[in-house]
Amino acid sequence: MAVWNLGSINADIVFAVPRIPAPGETLASRGRSLYLGGKGANMSVAAARAGAHAVHVGAVGADGRWAVEQLTEWGVDTRFVRVLDEDTGQAIILVDDDGENAIVLHPGANRAIPAALVEEALSGAATGDWFVCQNETNGLAEAAKLAKAMGLKVAHAAAPFEAEAVTPLLPSLDLLVLNAVEAAQLAEATGRALGELGVADVIVTLGGDGSEWHHGARTERFAPVKVEPVDTTGAGDTFTGYLLASLDRGMAMDEALRLASHAGALMVTRKGTADVIPDLAEVLAFRKERGT
Ligand code: RIB
Ligand code: NA
Repeated sequence: MAVWNLGSINADIVFAVPRIPAPGETLASRGRSLYLGGKGANMSVAAARAGAHAVHVGAVGADGRWAVEQLTEWGVDTRFVRVLDEDTGQAIILVDDDGENAIVLHPGANRAIPAALVEEALSGAATGDWFVCQNETNGLAEAAKLAKAMGLKVAHAAAPFEAEAVTPLLPSLDLLVLNAVEAAQLAEATGRALGELGVADVIVTLGGDGSEWHHGARTERFAPVKVEPVDTTGAGDTFTGYLLASLDRGMAMDEALRLASHAGALMVTRKGTADVIPDLAEVLAFRKERGT
């Protein structure tokens, strides 16, 4: 059992701002921090902290060796992370007083991952393992197709959303994770309802309103885990990482969704990215405390 993740690795430069600046406005930050991030790296760390064997497939530049070391230290299998002659991915993140964020990405090495690396990595995967990708690397469609052909279960978190990136993946997918805005964009682009995409399980996260599980003609609603938001950065990635780790362990979807929702909610109460993703013991303690 393992979760194979073709994913981004970014240096997150986070500025605390009173509000997201308007066009033409200059704002002084109240503080600046550097974290390891990237939707991919966050997902791998979340899956590892949830107890899965998380194998990260990706790339950094020579200035990103620290990130690989950190991932390794945090229990992610980094045998298939390459150091390329490119910049390490970077994200400039503004976090306002309400915990909301705005992000600008410099993809760098994340968009230069060699196809041969993905093939080499997946040749070590077993039937029934999970494969996941987001939309911050190159090679999604090829990798998803290969993973599917090899008998892996294939998941995609459609962020940052681009209809042209998701639609070619649909025939390979077993699981699709979207937020409400992304779900509306996908419906608009495909002209199809979520239950008609040909994807067995579609999860829509609704922030403070919980989540929805669409499977076949059925939609099930899951209650939100209410918290006081401090920093929403990485909460969605934490949710998906926990979801995959739980499914990989054989947990049923409804219970996996409840666990993932608690992990995501706890993440919203913490400043930072991959470093503060909660581990399973912390998520279980949080549930116990709340009695949910
Ligand atoms: O989802 C949060 C992540 O998005 C950040 O860690 C940043 O690197 C961007 O990829
Ligand atoms: Na956070």
